[in-house]
Amino acid sequence: MVIEKICCLGAGYVGGPTCSVIALKCPNIKVTVCDKSVERINQWNSDKLPIYEPGLDDVVRQCRGKNLFFSTDIAQGIQEADLIFISVNTPTKTFGNGKGRAADLKYVESAARMIADLATSNKIVVEKSTVPVKAAEIIMKILRANTKPGVNYQILSNPEFLAEGTAIVDLIEAERVLIGGEDTPDGQKAIQELCWVYEHWIPAKNILTTNTWSSELSKLAANAFLAQRISSINSLSAVCEATGADVSEVARAVGRDSRIGPKFLEASIGFGGSCFQKDILNLIYLCECLNLPEVAAYWQQVLNLNDYQKIRFTRKVIESLFNTVTDKNIAVLGFSFKKNTGDTRESPAIYVSQTLLDEGAKLNIYDPKVEPDQIMYELTNPYVTSEPEIVKKNVEIHDTAYSAVTGAHAIVLCTEWDEFKTLDFQKIYEVMMKPAYIFDGRKILNHERLQNIGFHVQTIGKRLNRMPSNRAQGSQTMP
Ligand code: UDX
Ligand code: UDX
Ligand code: ADP
Repeated sequence: MVIEKICCLGAGYVGGPTCSVIALKCPNIKVTVCDKSVERINQWNSDKLPIYEPGLDDVVRQCRGKNLFFSTDIAQGIQEADLIFISVNTPTKTFGNGKGRAADLKYVESAARMIADLATSNKIVVEKSTVPVKAAEIIMKILRANTKPGVNYQILSNPEFLAEGTAIVDLIEAERVLIGGEDTPDGQKAIQELCWVYEHWIPAKNILTTNTWSSELSKLAANAFLAQRISSINSLSAVCEATGADVSEVARAVGRDSRIGPKFLEASIGFGGSCFQKDILNLIYLCECLNLPEVAAYWQQVLNLNDYQKIRFTRKVIESLFNTVTDKNIAVLGFSFKKNTGDTRESPAIYVSQTLLDEGAKLNIYDPKVEPDQIMYELTNPYVTSEPEIVKKNVEIHDTAYSAVTGAHAIVLCTEWDEFKTLDFQKIYEVMMKPAYIFDGRKILNHERLQNIGFHVQTIGKRLNRMPSNRAQGSQTMP
């Protein structure tokens, strides 16, 4: 079979960019991205795409209406496709068996059932969502238990490794594409057919093929390793603050060892995003189910350390502000989980904001790309607060950093947006309450310059010595 038509179920952060790039690189393949949300599909068909991703607008503009389509007609998408990506959301279960740890596969299951109901010809079904090991088996069981005569299914695992904010480059210049399938002649044939799609732009040597379970586990493992590096450097950031070492210098020295490498060693207020925590929770749940409690405990510690880092940072903000933030105005700069995305899932800014609100602070929040409704949605979520009305009363969303900081007692920088580095801090100092505090949770500002202006500055992984000119204003070292 030569693949002529691809359908993707789920037009989210993964399905949308991935299929846009496939359409760009494979002009002879018709790619239809389907979603059950009419609103999402309307946005994909408008000038304002539902997700902010550098370079995505361009790709969509080039292909939409030619060989790239966004549609709510899931039935047609499934029926005409030779290959179907399942790219639906897989949140962590919030109730029942495995609550708080296991992935909720209800959307994956319902996508598989839709395919089983609607397919009238052979399909290669490709699992693209991040799912626990053996999820392909669920898809396989559903499809094969409901197969109509003359319809054959091959199920592949093809995890996505893109990172938000760099998704388009990650897809176009993928270091590796991973495809897992069954070790049968039909399984191998399906793998080759998906390889053919990627070979339109990815060198064959960068396409790895494995069995299904290795592919699924590799995705969890890759995210677990990345998250573990961040927890490792964050653990050392606490040691640096206590000893006078500088975590950036330590990271630079450690990263020079080619066995370790320099990337992903940025100490921060903790990692966020839809993948790291969720995938590690999946891994932990898997280990518990396999009766491997020591392995589960090992990975649990990566999450514990991440929580500790968020708590530690927020506690320092409160302690520095004379142990009370009640009725103080605090400017929160950045709300997304990293720069260059409007995504707020598991953003550390949520924990920081929620804790400050619980302590009675008034927050002025500014983020260049997160929609105000999204910020309010996160902060009034029942998992975050039992008092949404108080949150609404005490949170103001601003459309510039300068308006957010006016009259503030402190700035808490949660996301490393480039524009924060070039703010006019002299001007900001003048419009803030005194003493004026800055807590740089991402280590991106010029701390010495800020101290010279008169700010009290604290950051992650470095003890900032008090400036002589500021002696009268009290100690600047981390407590
Ligand atoms: C991640 C993986 O990188 C990607 O391969 C996978 O497909 C999905 O999960 P993403 O969550 O989009 O991608 O972003 P990533 O760049 O990995 O950042 C995750 C979090 O870690 C962010 O909150 C970021 O600020 C934080 N981080 C990252 C650090 O704190 N320090 C670092 O050195 C790197
Ligand atoms: C180590 C560091 O590599 C070196 O930089 C430092 O200066 C001293 O400590 P060493 O202990 O001599 O060097 O050997 P190394 O090659 O690091 O191996 C240490 C142990 O880890 C060995 O038992 C080795 O078998 C084991 N190992 C290493 C693994 O089990 N898996 C690996 O992938 C690598
Ligand atoms: P991800 O980050 O994994 O891409 P998102 O939440 O951004 O996750 O996107 C998943 C999308 O999948 C959502 O837009 C949701 O509406 C869609 N979806 C869920 N179930 C189905 C389904 N059965 N058919 C089509 N789309 C679905």
